[in-house]
Amino acid sequence: MCQLQNPLSLTLSPRVAAGRGNISGASVQCAEVDRATTLRFDLCVLADYNLRVSDDSLNAINASTRYCAVLGRPIRHSASPAMQNAAIAEAGLNWRYLAFDVRPEELRPALLGAKSMHFVGLNLTVPHKLLAVEMMDAYDESVKLWGAVNTVRFEGRDRNGNWLPIHQFDDAPPEKVRMQGFNTDADAIARSLREDLGIELQGARVLILGAGGAGRVAALKLAAENVSELFLVNRTQSKAGSVAAEIRRRHLNVKVQLGYPRGEVDLAINATSLGLSPDDPLPLDGKQFSLRQAHAAYDMIYRPAETPFLKAAQAAGSRVANGLGMLLYQGAKAFEIWSGRTAPIETMRAALKKNVYGI
Ligand code: ATR
Repeated sequence: MCQLQNPLSLTLSPRVAAGRGNISGASVQCAEVDRATTLRFDLCVLADYNLRVSDDSLNAINASTRYCAVLGRPIRHSASPAMQNAAIAEAGLNWRYLAFDVRPEELRPALLGAKSMHFVGLNLTVPHKLLAVEMMDAYDESVKLWGAVNTVRFEGRDRNGNWLPIHQFDDAPPEKVRMQGFNTDADAIARSLREDLGIELQGARVLILGAGGAGRVAALKLAAENVSELFLVNRTQSKAGSVAAEIRRRHLNVKVQLGYPRGEVDLAINATSLGLSPDDPLPLDGKQFSLRQAHAAYDMIYRPAETPFLKAAQAAGSRVANGLGMLLYQGAKAFEIWSGRTAPIETMRAALKKNVYGI
């Protein structure tokens, strides 16, 4: 209840009243007596309300607020703040997730600044994922496997010499802090293919179009998932050649070939940037491969939702999915690495869809 020592007219705004909380819909009407005197609230009521709201803007920033952020360039269209802040609000954490436009030559000072200010963690996106590898103090196995960092966790050393996530040092900040690098992209690709397309990866025949950063990680991850055959196509063939050589070295059981497959494949993946612009051509040579040969098609692009590649695949009768799931699952894993809690997947998915597609 609102305890008014000296009553004053107070009406909650519709936005506040619409939130979830035990003062929802409340409207306190008191006669104005003396404007100069103090108005006292029962703060427990408001604190409880703030913990429960899903509208991020209602959860006040204070001196205990901890920060996470995504660093990239360009960054303005990143959907990660919407997705992560929704998860943070759902979990009731006093955290915020920000976005910073950082030039590659300023990545190191940006990382060190976040470390000094005891950020909880960071995500790294284009063009920082490879650059950051040599800047980490410690590496999760995933970085050793995939050779890129997309998630950083700041960790403090406790009295027993153990490194713990820094948000666990609430009262006394640790004397030593380190940055541990993780890669959540590769697992996100496999999870999205399984959950969004229902693909059984083991034993599958897969065509991958593109051998840049994303294409390379997809090819290596699928090889690690024991697909039977990989077909790699890239505008610059030498890049596809080096990915093929890496797979042959690391995954002896997987057949990897350069060029288009004959016959059917279980899956065709677009890992090129063709499709980002509406006028882009298809990322494949229609004389060498028809999408009718693909049972399923996956485009790593998620904006626009329907690329020419996905439209053509759908028209050819393939099951289709875009890369929103990859974005979701890499972010969910990062949230779990930072917080130690299970990510609220459906809340994050809804926030992403609203941010990216306005639905
Ligand atoms: P990402 O990290 O998103 O994978 P990238 O490493 O720059 O970004 O890779 C972009 C991919 O799209 C590459 O496979 C690139 O082909 P090249 O290796 O030959 O550059 C591919 N790509 C970009 N523009 C293309 C175009 N106009 N035609 C065909 N492929 C293109």
